[in-house]
Amino acid sequence: MYDEALHGKDHYEVDRRANATLYEGIGEASVRATALENRRFLGRVVRRLAAEHGIRQFLDIGSGLPTMRNTHQIAQEADPGARVLYVDYDPIVAVHGRALLEGDNTRILTADMREPAAILDAPETHDLIDFTRPVAVLFIAVFHFITPAEDPARIVAAFRERSAPGSYVGISHLTSDGTPPGEQRSWEKAFENATSPMVFRTREEINGIFDGYELIEPGLVRPWTWHPDDEGSPQTTSLYGGVGRKR
Ligand SMILES: C[S@@+](CC[C@H](N)C(=O)[O-])C[C@H]1O[C@@H](n2cnc3c(N)ncnc32)[C@H](O)[C@@H]1O
Repeated sequence: MYDEALHGKDHYEVDRRANATLYEGIGEASVRATALENRRFLGRVVRRLAAEHGIRQFLDIGSGLPTMRNTHQIAQEADPGARVLYVDYDPIVAVHGRALLEGDNTRILTADMREPAAILDAPETHDLIDFTRPVAVLFIAVFHFITPAEDPARIVAAFRERSAPGSYVGISHLTSDGTPPGEQRSWEKAFENATSPMVFRTREEINGIFDGYELIEPGLVRPWTWHPDDEGSPQTTSLYGGVGRKR
């Protein structure tokens, strides 16, 4: 569904039908703007962590299908030796991704983030990621698929405990703050038959997911205001995003 919203090539009839429901309820331009705002945020977070904060290892969790400007392309522009592990529980991601993405420093792992140990202890992770050195763990547009009972903060904590001081976490999330209730219901309806339900959170709830990390400037903000650059970004009130640092 996300790939279709980004005008990608890898989507199916069922995704297009679900998005049609979303476009009907919210407006096509608005949904596409949210998807692109999120994707641009991901790009700036990776670029900045690589260029300004010296991060050379990225765990991109809930990475989605390969699309424009993937994490490893941006990270490896800063340093061809940068290592990126993509993780998604959708096996289609690995099928499409292997041919396109895998190289010496880039791997794809099929695993469910609700079981962090399945990621942290996987051979692919051990081969690529050195947890004694700083790492950036990215959860971009993925925690709205995790219910309160599944507890996003618990998932982040498992990665934080394994990470070296000076590591980062990057998160973006759909928010109920500023999203009219009718729009929220349209999102939820469109995801009724998807692999996971859609969970909206307030800014305060999203802030709680960063527990144990210190938010770096400018904090938890509308993603288009997070270190904007020349590329420009759609400006919506659908999301919050931020980056935290482990002391
Ligand atoms: C909206 S896409 C975001 C893609 C990418 N992170 C971005 O922001 O451009 C969300 C992705 O999270 C994946 N996902 C959802 N729940 C997951 C889980 N429990 N474990 C791993 N991946 C998950 C979905 O399969 C989907 O590919």
